[in-house]
Amino acid sequence: MLNFTGKVALVTGGRRGMGRTHALALAERGAKVAVADIDAKECAGVVEEIAAKGGDAMCVTMDVSKKADVDAGFDEVIKKFGRLDILVNNAGIYISKPALELTEEDWDRMLDINLKGQFLCAQRAAKEMAKNSPAGSGRIINIASVASGQVGVGIAGGAHYTASKGGIIGMTETLAVEWAPLGISVNVVAPGAIDTPMVQAAQIPKDAMDAMIARIPMKRMGRPEEVSAMVVFLASDEASYVTGATFYVDGGWLAQ
Ligand SMILES: NC(=O)c1ccc[n+]([C@@H]2O[C@H](COP(=O)([O-])OP(=O)(O)OC[C@H]3O[C@@H](n4cnc5c(N)ncnc54)[C@H](O)[C@@H]3O)[C@@H](O)[C@H]2O)c1
Repeated sequence: MLNFTGKVALVTGGRRGMGRTHALALAERGAKVAVADIDAKECAGVVEEIAAKGGDAMCVTMDVSKKADVDAGFDEVIKKFGRLDILVNNAGIYISKPALELTEEDWDRMLDINLKGQFLCAQRAAKEMAKNSPAGSGRIINIASVASGQVGVGIAGGAHYTASKGGIIGMTETLAVEWAPLGISVNVVAPGAIDTPMVQAAQIPKDAMDAMIARIPMKRMGRPEEVSAMVVFLASDEASYVTGATFYVDGGWLAQ
């Protein structure tokens, strides 16, 4: 069950936070893992952690918002590991700013990294996965958020962020339809409030944080590993009949 021996995974934004735990979780179950981030040097620690446990991993420099970078990064992975079976589209940024103050540059940067970046990586990944034999085991997992629309979680200061995350869900449904005949599934994992450097850097005021936690039935933030568990399932052979779907990992937040 949930064994990835012989499979190759690429995790974007893999140097820290949830990307790190996704990379470790896939490697622990036998996948060779490419840990991609904007500066490959920063990925070395994760690659060492994987190697220390007997796994096989590599660092890849990739700004996901730039097609040339994405292509060069994927080329490196194919050169070293020979194939690609799993993409975890995890890289993302969150910069809080009131909508009335957002500049065109703020908007473009957020959408370029969080949404266009996922498309560029998914498109290149699908081209690689379509070559795999036997067909049917390509897995793309796109990371969105509870703050992505239609579920009652608007976040003040996050108009550009929520637009990017909502776009991911729409894009995923269409890619799932287009790529099912290629044997590639495309799903979304939408985390709630997870304790990572992104949230720590956001410096959310204590009263706002307390109010958020109060809305979560489990009364706590999630741990990155708790999101990785869902990513691992969707990346596995066991998830063979799951595509085009969004899975919320949120401590019950949306059930309130
Ligand atoms: N932490 C949360 O509560 C939360 C909730 C919902 C969704 N998410 C999403 O989960 C994902 C991971 O978030 P996290 O909390 O672990 O954040 P994080 O900031 O700890 O990690 C994000 C990683 O993405 C990398 N990155 C940023 N821009 C990049 C680019 N242009 N190219 C390549 N890599 C880039 C960063 O260097 C970093 O390593 C993000 O997509 C985020 O939007 C987080």
